[in-house]
Amino acid sequence: MSAGVVIRPARNIRGSLRLPGDKSISHRYAMLAGIAKGVTRLENFATGADCASTLSCLEQLGCEVVRDATGGAVEVEGGGMRLKPATAALDCGNSGSTVRMLSGILAGQPFVSELVGDASLSRRPMARIIEPLRAMGAEIQSTKDRLPLRIRGGRLRPIEYKTPVASAQVKTCLMLAALSAEGESVIEEPVRTRDHGELALRAFGAKVEELSANRWRVRGGQTLRPVHAVIPGDISTAAFFLCAAALFPEANLVFDNLLLNPTRAALLDALRELGLQISVMKVEQQQGELVGVIQARCGTLKSLTVSGALSAALIDELPVLAAIAPYTTGGIEIRDARELRVKESDRIAAVAENLRAMGAEVEEREDGLRVAGNQRLHGATLQSHDDHRIAMAFAVAALRAEGESLMEGADAARISFPDFFSTLDALLER
Ligand code: S3P
Repeated sequence: MSAGVVIRPARNIRGSLRLPGDKSISHRYAMLAGIAKGVTRLENFATGADCASTLSCLEQLGCEVVRDATGGAVEVEGGGMRLKPATAALDCGNSGSTVRMLSGILAGQPFVSELVGDASLSRRPMARIIEPLRAMGAEIQSTKDRLPLRIRGGRLRPIEYKTPVASAQVKTCLMLAALSAEGESVIEEPVRTRDHGELALRAFGAKVEELSANRWRVRGGQTLRPVHAVIPGDISTAAFFLCAAALFPEANLVFDNLLLNPTRAALLDALRELGLQISVMKVEQQQGELVGVIQARCGTLKSLTVSGALSAALIDELPVLAAIAPYTTGGIEIRDARELRVKESDRIAAVAENLRAMGAEVEEREDGLRVAGNQRLHGATLQSHDDHRIAMAFAVAALRAEGESLMEGADAARISFPDFFSTLDALLER
């Protein structure tokens, strides 16, 4: 476990931010660049370790990757649909997106690949991709549906498949595999999840037809062309700053170049319902993704219930919403979010444990939490559980506690936003 970071309470937060590129889009653009023929240039590429894992896997598979250290740009040169076999295991680090989505590409490659990851990733469920990829003809070995995975790819059969869990990683995995199948695949999901896979495939020149709500057709054998793109700022990272703004009556934050894709922006509506004032000052489309400038100011925080499809849409933002719940007047209830238990950590347990350490009362349930409002929190020793979103969520909660907190394993923030603590510090008034 890395050294802790001390978090002192603050009086206010204000300023403007331009965040590094969205993690979900960066992964997808990098992978598609790897199987497009030619050089793709991606400005404002995500700076976290997760997307770096994707880039190094692509390098191992024969793609040339050039990182422009100062400007945050990355160039990936792909040689078309045929990758080269890696000479060692592909290390996906902490990144579920890397292993799940890359497996879709590797299932169509005529060689054997081995995928490994860190302790957290090695505990996470992979049956959700193993079963449909096997049904398409890939040979996959794994023990108890966990990493390491050994994939012998080749020519795939098309599939007609409804994903049992609402997972954009699985949806994208199967769309990528569908490119290597002989014929048309139809992929359906139980509720709408983030649509970056569909939008990215189209941006790279592939045809993805929406047959009906949450049901898509992808034809095999399509070729991709490289793009030059600016990745919009990560709205799931913005969530921590937005929730910090929600804690202070004088808060005022402006976000430039922020991802506003409707399948991700449910957070803005949830925060408005909670009482934050959010104005959208400019919106435009880039590569099919909505991007804009928003301003957030604080009002009185009321109550919020998150359930059903909204829980899937807000899955990455639920820890920070729960972490600020004691500062609301009416509390926050989260239901239908069992998936939180199989993220980088068991996020339901980690949120409950840290809130309790700060003196809050929490009702922990199998599929969520109920946290009452109007609770006073005190500073405490907090545990990130080596989970980036837990580290950042409780760095935010600690800003309004009485007394200092110590976040153990704060370094986990490097997974999605290595500059989190310095960026936060620069915006705070103490
Ligand atoms: C992601 C989808 C979500 C999310 C993850 C990124 C993606 O995971 O939690 O951080 O980029 O598709 P699931 O697909 O497991 O729901």
